[in-house]
Amino acid sequence: MKISFKKSLFALAASSALLLAACGTSQNDSNKNGSNDNQKKVLHVGTEATFPPFELVDKGELTGFDVELLKALGEEAGYGIDIKNTGWDSMLAGLDSKDLDIGMSGITIKKDRLDSYDFSIPYYESEGFLILFKDNVDIKNAEDLKNLKVGVQNGTTGAEAAESVVGKNAKNISKYESSGLMFQALLSGSVDAAVTDKPVAEEYIKQNPDSNIQSVEDKERFKPEYYGIAFQKGSPYKEDFDKALITLFDNGKYTEIYKKWFNEDPDLESLKNAKSYIESLK
Ligand code: ARG
Repeated sequence: MKISFKKSLFALAASSALLLAACGTSQNDSNKNGSNDNQKKVLHVGTEATFPPFELVDKGELTGFDVELLKALGEEAGYGIDIKNTGWDSMLAGLDSKDLDIGMSGITIKKDRLDSYDFSIPYYESEGFLILFKDNVDIKNAEDLKNLKVGVQNGTTGAEAAESVVGKNAKNISKYESSGLMFQALLSGSVDAAVTDKPVAEEYIKQNPDSNIQSVEDKERFKPEYYGIAFQKGSPYKEDFDKALITLFDNGKYTEIYKKWFNEDPDLESLKNAKSYIESLK
């Protein structure tokens, strides 16, 4: 009895699905709000989620400024967002192999990356890098990195910043595949110092007040950077996301998300003026 009831339900569902498809409006979506705009295309996104406050895993969920911003942008631009914690290298490889549509991971827009990827207009201005070190280590500026064991995340601008002082592939630099492993190495004493993006370094210190981690900034050597959303080269989505970003700058949504994660107002004027930044790099 039960089975046949289930079966008939299934048959009903199947036939109504057929009916819908036959109506020629097969693109009808299943929006909760019942609106019948076109079914959203789901974009596949990779990230490296040990980079708070931009991306992190909290109680098993991917969250952070980048994650919330990208979802809001998807909403605005009419795309579904499927974001996965792929890790940094697999994120870039996934864009290369066209398995991923988007990389959202505090990615700095820079000249050599523009050869391989398209970037959105800048969505965040990062004030450069901080050098992190333990209480018992003495660092005044970046020059001191030359005499220490230094940890960085492989393939990042923090790694380049450290190498610009110490030398490319210098023996005293250890490269970790995630930001989280770099922090662990610093905490455990495997390295004396680490170089990473300033907002992430500051968040780390805030979240780990008992870890004896200090920081120093070297504005002479380490310059500000802009983060962008990375797309495959020639991606059809870049324009839609650029437009959506400008809308969220103007309608207060960007500010809302920014305030939630950084506890202050964004400098929207300066961000908007950075629009031409990508052109200047080419
Ligand atoms: N902004 C730096 C870069 O683009 C570091 C980004 C690292 N991001 C991460 N989610 N671990 O090279």
